[in-house]
Parts: sequence; structure tokens; C-alpha cells
Amino acid sequence: MHESTSPLNGKHILLGVTAGIAAYKAPLIVRALTARGAEVQVVLSANAHRFVAPTALQAVSGRPVRQDLWDEDAEAAMGHIELARWAELILIAPATANTLARLVQGMSDDLLTTLCLATSAPTYVAPSMNQQMYQHPATQTNLRQAAGLGYHIIGPDSGEQACGEDGPGRMTEPEALVDALERGTPTDRLAGMHVTITAGPTIEAIDPVRFISNHSSGLQGLCLAHSALNAGASVTLIAGPGVSACNPEIQRIDVTSAQEMHDASMANVPDTDIFIGVAAVADYRPAFSVEQKMKRSGKAGAGLTVELVENPDIIRAVAADPKRPLVIGFAAETNNALAHAREKRIKKNLDAIVLNDVSDPSIGFNSKQNAATLIYEAGEVVLPKQSKQQLADTLITQISEIFATKLAGTKPESVTK
Ligand code: PMT
Repeated sequence: MHESTSPLNGKHILLGVTAGIAAYKAPLIVRALTARGAEVQVVLSANAHRFVAPTALQAVSGRPVRQDLWDEDAEAAMGHIELARWAELILIAPATANTLARLVQGMSDDLLTTLCLATSAPTYVAPSMNQQMYQHPATQTNLRQAAGLGYHIIGPDSGEQACGEDGPGRMTEPEALVDALERGTPTDRLAGMHVTITAGPTIEAIDPVRFISNHSSGLQGLCLAHSALNAGASVTLIAGPGVSACNPEIQRIDVTSAQEMHDASMANVPDTDIFIGVAAVADYRPAFSVEQKMKRSGKAGAGLTVELVENPDIIRAVAADPKRPLVIGFAAETNNALAHAREKRIKKNLDAIVLNDVSDPSIGFNSKQNAATLIYEAGEVVLPKQSKQQLADTLITQISEIFATKLAGTKPESVTK
């Protein structure tokens, strides 16, 4: 966003940098913040200088970096309570597992944790750590408790890590972090609503080692879950195999097969206001489950036939329920895309459908970007190629408007929004 239009323009932002390898990206966070017009004061935790030079941060922020609660000169210039009042927003990036644990305990044994206790500013935390550390139950508990204490958690991303491992725990990239701050503290667009989202592929076992599946990564569904959470909804994510870790405030149900996804979805229908089916559900599964690994016949050129039966159509079942929520589907199409998606919306009785033309390999399945057309009764909106998170934010805004229109048409005026 341009400096003059950014909600961060002129904001006093305190950037807390703690001792993780992603601290080397801190100057880029400062640059992204100042490019949007923010004034940035950097505070380093005790060992963060081992990963990023204070002089570099001073150069990009234009302010001396604060590191020590007991620095008499710095305290004389602006005491820590004064600094806590100065901050209109705090971002801790990267936030190590240790920092998270200390925030949750309410410790105040260094400058940064003291400032977090002394401030009334919204505080954002971008976790960054080894994937095993991130997935440890202690860290997951700390994340949930941090969210309960009012900290806003951003990320982490999943992927290759500095330690050579692969998984969740990478700090969200600097530009994306600042985009998340611009989107701001949760809005109340979907306050009080329960949104259920399916994401990822399903796996249909042929035998204990082979299966039918597809290329969905679950990222688009995950981004929608985070956007809905940011819009104030309580969110349930019904996730197929391989979907990355999500914000601990999201209630996550992990499933494997289409039947399991169906059962979890139907169990949620009575409490759901908006159902979004992003999952790429396998339409068929093997008719018989084979308990032992199937063996080759050994005869040259021999064929094998696997009989398939149709899986339940989850979204159609949700839309047919007498207590149906607002139902939004997705359609991944390769040819005659618009016509197929329009037809699918009607056939499945959906309030809206989001068309992905997946004949373009740079969008849709397993990519970071997406483009779509939102098709609903009153019109169609073309959403050009953008990150899946940006697309999710726009879709949640559009979906909340469709929901408000539907509610206005079906409920007495006193309860319309
Ligand atoms: O996961 P990503 O890598 O981020 O990629 C995102 C995506 C491309 C998978 C996603 O944006 C998308 O398009 N999802 C729908 C994929 C699809 O195959 O749709 P479909 O045309 O088969 O199904 C239409 C709708 O019916 C979908 O909402 C689907 O969830 C639902 N469905 C389909 C079959 C079935 N048995 N039950 C269902 O509920």
C-alpha cells in the first residue's frame, strides 16, 4: 500500500527482535514499515545482536536501538514506561519459542517483555523456530495461551528452514508481515459467526501403501480460515492430509478420506453460519478396502482393475440440510471454466462459487498465487492474480456481504445487519 494511504502512516511502531536466525530479516521489516510511513523503534532481546547488527537497525530506523532495561542513558532519554506509552503497535518478529513462553508467563526480566506488560497497544507476534520446536505441545499450548491473552499471532509459514529441516516455523516474510499489520486488528465483519472451511486433498486408500489423491496443498483454505478469524469469526478448519499448521485460535479437525470429511462437516452444520468448501475432495474411492499390500501378478502385461464407487458430495449434502448455512463452493476447472462453474453452483444449490481456472499452472493447485471469479446469484466478480492470502481477504469481505444480504432477506428487520 502507498505511504499516504496506509493505515500505518505516522504510526509509532515498536519492533521487538528476539534471538532467532530470522532476525537477519529485521532490517527488511523496518524498511517495509518505514516505506508505509511508520516511525519505528527497535528493541532487541538480550541475544538478538548475535543474529543482526544493532548498527544496521539504527541505520534503517533512524533511531538508536534499545537493548537493555538498565541502560541509564537510554532510560534518561525515554524511560521504558514512556516507551511503552509511545508505542501505538508492537510487533515481535521473529518471536522465539523462549520469548513466547516468557510472554505467556508475564515475565518482565528484560526490556522487551517489560514493555509488553506495560503497554496497552495491540501486540503482534510472529513465531519463528525449528519445526519440531514449533510443533512441541508446550509451544502449541503457549501459542493458544498467548492468543487468549490478546496477542495477535501472525504465521508462521511452512517450508525449508535454516536448520535444514522442512515444516512449519518459518517467520512470515517481512512484506507479508507488514501486510498483516495493515489489515489491522481483527475487524468485526463476521463477529459472532461460526465459519466452517474444508481444505486440502482427501486420500482414498487402495491398499495400506497406495492411494488416490490430488495436488491440493490446502493453502487457499488455510488463508481463508485466517481471513475469517481476522474478521472476528470463530473458525473450524476441516483439513485433509498435508495441510500446514494454522493459528491455534482455529479449531482444526484433521481428516484423511472424503467420508471422514463428510462426517466432520455434517457434524458441524447445526452450529455453522457460513460453510466454505475449498477442499479438493476425491469424487471416487476404491469399492473394497484391501488390508494387505497388493502384489504384482507376475504375468507380463497383466492388467489390474480397481473398482471405484462414488464418494458423498459433501457440499451438496451441507446445502441440502434443513438447517443449511450460507454455502460457498470452489470449482477448479480446466476448460469451458465459466460455464462449468455456473452450472455447478446451480446443481449443488450453492449461494456462491469461486472459480479457479487451473489450466494456468501458476495459480490454483499447490501454488502461492491464485486468481478467481466469484459467481453468485446477483452477479460475478473477477479477482485478478494475487497472493492466496490477499484473495482470501477479498473473498471474506465479499462473502460477508452476500451473507448480510441473505440475512436481510430472510430475517425480520430487527435482526438484519
Ligand atoms: O489447496 P491449494 O493448493 O491451495 O489449491 C486450492 C484449490 C485449487 C484446491 C481450490 O482453490 C479449489 O479450487 N478447490 C475446489 C477443487 C475442486 O476440485 O472442486 P470440484 O469442482 O471437484 O468441486 C466443487 C465443489 O464441491 C468444491 O467446493 C468441493 O469442495 C466440493 N465437493 C466436491 C466433491 C465432493 N465429493 N464433495 C464436495 O464437497
